[in-house]
Amino acid sequence: MGRKLHTIKEHEVTDKAVYLNRRQIIKAAGLSAIAGGFAASSAGSAGLQRAETMGGQGPEWLRQRVSSASISKISTPETLTPYEYVTGYNNFYEFGTDKSDPSENSSKFKSDPWSVEVGGDCEVTGRFQLEDLLKGQDLEERIYRLRCVEAWSMVIPWIGFPLRKLLSRFKPTSRARYVKFETIYRPAEMPGQSAYFATLDYPYVEGLRMDEALHDLAFIAVGLYGEPLLAQNGAPLRLVVPWKYGFKSIKSIARITFQKHRPQSSWQKSNSKEYGFFSNVNPKVSHPRWSQATERRLPSSLFSSNRIETLMFNGYADEVAHLYKGMNLRMNY
Ligand code: MTE
Repeated sequence: MGRKLHTIKEHEVTDKAVYLNRRQIIKAAGLSAIAGGFAASSAGSAGLQRAETMGGQGPEWLRQRVSSASISKISTPETLTPYEYVTGYNNFYEFGTDKSDPSENSSKFKSDPWSVEVGGDCEVTGRFQLEDLLKGQDLEERIYRLRCVEAWSMVIPWIGFPLRKLLSRFKPTSRARYVKFETIYRPAEMPGQSAYFATLDYPYVEGLRMDEALHDLAFIAVGLYGEPLLAQNGAPLRLVVPWKYGFKSIKSIARITFQKHRPQSSWQKSNSKEYGFFSNVNPKVSHPRWSQATERRLPSSLFSSNRIETLMFNGYADEVAHLYKGMNLRMNY
């Protein structure tokens, strides 16, 4: 994967992040429970308004749904990564390989209307409009850590709902042992897809074992920071699997297939020695070209690298370690 230094300067970071951080703390104060090992902060006082959205992107119905999401107990109390980094420092190779390419090259991308084709080993198949997929789903805000295989990380307030609530609608059969996801293929809107020396084969493919996909932490995001996803973050819907390296969290999903056989993901296909199917965050197993023991928590700079230790399963071990019991995680990287 590319390794460009980001270009965002400290003074360009607006106080939206500060504002939303306060909101995060105050919202968390209403959550006395400590659910599933996730500590909710007890600081703050009541009364902060919900953040105003930046507006603009996404249809009105989606903006309304996203802005009225409830706050989930399943959130880390860590400081949020500023909005400018979350939306300006991205990996989305369909728009180019530099971190600023996805935000700079995605203006032609159309995420409305949107539909997802569902098929394979399931009883309910067909093409479904985004609005139908979201019908009856309660949207919630979950603050998750995102750890990229390139050893940088962020803390992002996603808005969406558990993946299992989407998948169960299609009634997967007992043959379905894996679920495969594909990103939309639209070279006219995504310049990286027709780049002469493309790093990846498109469409981008990812997959999960069914038990991973049905885990409550696996999440479908349709928004972040109180607003619908921008193109660079995977509009209009993407996966977020917080205990795995970021490349498993496939963006702009257009196809879901239930199948018996393990799908081959795009990064595996491109370099199977460096990128495996499981890709669980694991500080003890180095990438062939760099250690995974620590990570650069953004924002970071030349003078303050903000390096922190990487945690097993990205800090979600209590919740997900049982999924891999008896597996050799060095071989199944
Ligand atoms: N999905 C698609 N379709 N194409 C990509 O290039 N990059 C992945 C993942 N999903 C990628 C993708 C990688 S490497 C990471 S780290 C995360 O998206 C980054 O998500 P973010 O840019 O929203 O932080």
